[in-house]
Amino acid sequence: MSKRVLVTGGAGFVGSHIIRYILSNYSEYRVINFDALTPSASLNRLSAEENNPMYTFYHGDISNEKDVQYVFEQYRPNFVIHLASQSYIDKNIHQPNIFIQTNVIGTQLVLQNVRESNVEKMVQFSTSKVYGSYKEDADIDENSRLLPYSPYAASKAAADLFIAASYRSHKLNVSIIRPANIYGPYQFTEKLIPAVIYSVITNKKVPVFGNGGSYRDWLYINDFCKAVDLVLHKGKAGEIYNISSQEGIKNIDIVKIIIKKMDSDDSKIEHLKERMGDESYPAVKSIKVREKLGWTPKFDLEKGLDEIIHWYKNNIDWVEEIHSGEYQKNK
Ligand SMILES: NC(=O)c1ccc[n+]([C@@H]2O[C@H](COP(=O)([O-])OP(=O)(O)OC[C@H]3O[C@@H](n4cnc5c(N)ncnc54)[C@H](O)[C@@H]3O)[C@@H](O)[C@H]2O)c1
Repeated sequence: MSKRVLVTGGAGFVGSHIIRYILSNYSEYRVINFDALTPSASLNRLSAEENNPMYTFYHGDISNEKDVQYVFEQYRPNFVIHLASQSYIDKNIHQPNIFIQTNVIGTQLVLQNVRESNVEKMVQFSTSKVYGSYKEDADIDENSRLLPYSPYAASKAAADLFIAASYRSHKLNVSIIRPANIYGPYQFTEKLIPAVIYSVITNKKVPVFGNGGSYRDWLYINDFCKAVDLVLHKGKAGEIYNISSQEGIKNIDIVKIIIKKMDSDDSKIEHLKERMGDESYPAVKSIKVREKLGWTPKFDLEKGLDEIIHWYKNNIDWVEEIHSGEYQKNK
């Protein structure tokens, strides 16, 4: 049966993959991409879907009441996957208000419209950063305390609490997912993995903040999309699902692995000043999605990095177009 899926933030890195995944796995689903086209968006990520009759783009702002109301009335979604978010780390510390506007007020508006319409299921995108920075051997799961370090993480934690309250008071069918760091095709080169690959391809210095001692837990986008699919269709109402590889690695170590895989050498590394708000996020446990929903990642770091290096080498034109500002023309 035909279903309508509203994806907020679908012109972003993760959202564009989710849209492509749904369109290629559920031919009966119509997808509405609701995006404000902020600087982290690029409709070029979805250029192959542009003429797909099951795909619609709506240019709007989730923190604008009229825009949100219009989309819900016009498209009457069965499912809502809420990814739209302000996540620019550099704005993080100095412009916290924009995080409150999009991530808290925007989420509350989406939630209100979900409540007032016949949405069957909503998936809220949070982040494992809501647990705060922690040591490598810390035991973090979905029941751990919320201890955000940055305005970004604080705003995501606040949104999660609005979602949880709505589940309790209105019995909404909503699940929260808290992903670790995701990487894959079409990610902008300000993020670590594409930054390293791009620097090596273009024979530039490879920038590393501080001594590169911060930890991250990396997940390949294909594995991530599968997890979202499972949570959307089988996730329990009111449940929180961490989505992670459960394997932390230091930034400097992943940088060196990529450099070696690309037949370059460590002399390319250039240590930059420590970045404010660049905390350590080693690995959270993602037991519920594995044990209750049967998810296991298929891409370990080795395989994922091989895929992504291959993709950037073959799509360097796309990266250059982003750098030249060409993608802005789509806005
Ligand atoms: N990328 C990761 O590693 C990662 C990790 C954990 C959680 N997440 C979460 O996943 C989601 C997507 O992340 P991403 O990396 O794709 O981010 P992104 O910045 O690439 O995409 C976000 C999208 O949201 C849109 N947007 C921003 N403000 C909006 C507004 N007011 N109205 C409508 N659209 C708006 C942007 O234009 C953009 O297209 C976010 O909720 C983020 O918190 C991402």
